[in-house]
Amino acid sequence: MSKITIAIDGYSSCGKSTLAKALASHLHYTYVDSGAMYRCVTLYALRKGVIKDGSFIPDEVIKLLSEIKLHFEFNSQTKTSETFMNGEHVEKDIRQMIVSENVSRISAIHEVRVQMIALQREMGKNKGIVMDGRDIGSNVFPDAELKVFMTSDTDVRTQRRYDEYKAKGQNVAFSDVKANLLSRDYVDTHRKEDPLIQAKDAIVLDNTELSREQQLEFVVKLVHDLTPYNIDR
Ligand code: DC
Repeated sequence: MSKITIAIDGYSSCGKSTLAKALASHLHYTYVDSGAMYRCVTLYALRKGVIKDGSFIPDEVIKLLSEIKLHFEFNSQTKTSETFMNGEHVEKDIRQMIVSENVSRISAIHEVRVQMIALQREMGKNKGIVMDGRDIGSNVFPDAELKVFMTSDTDVRTQRRYDEYKAKGQNVAFSDVKANLLSRDYVDTHRKEDPLIQAKDAIVLDNTELSREQQLEFVVKLVHDLTPYNIDR
């Protein structure tokens, strides 16, 4: 019985990782959050003082790459994979607003992308993986058996992200969260390399009015329609 590769791409804060995690858990697949990898590079550059007041010299970021070791570990309590950078659990730190404000421009650096994409392909080489990001279906795994492209109303996305920050005790303004989403979408769709685009063979999922359960049901059906007798569960 063969496992497949599932790519979930889309705009910022569409709920890609929530859906990808739920799907991976349902199928007993590995979940990889590719955005977390770019966030780690950004966090590291911030900590090293290479990003100062929102500015950086790309060559200085590139020099840091050899110092960053990333891995994901499955947490059996939270039932999700968590991000580690140089052995440190950084799940919380990489979700800070300061990281979100800089990550899109860091992820546009060619050498950063080359390194992260090599790691992503290595993690996906045995299939049985659900990876979410921006260029997973269009570039990282162009042969993925299932590609989902997620969209959602901007205010709904902003509210979701705003609620997440509040729940984590981070004090942010709704307008700042919205501005950050829009600016990230702009940079992600306009960058030269591997921009966020809908792969030709991707299936669009607009989740503006869908519950988490409805979204999961939608993608599980896609998986079963694709390989009705052939999915490892
Ligand atoms: O999914 P996220 O919001 O955590 O991603 C953070 C940033 O990383 C996003 O603004 C663009 C970048 N990214 C990317 O360039 N390619 C990916 N496959 C995933 C994320």
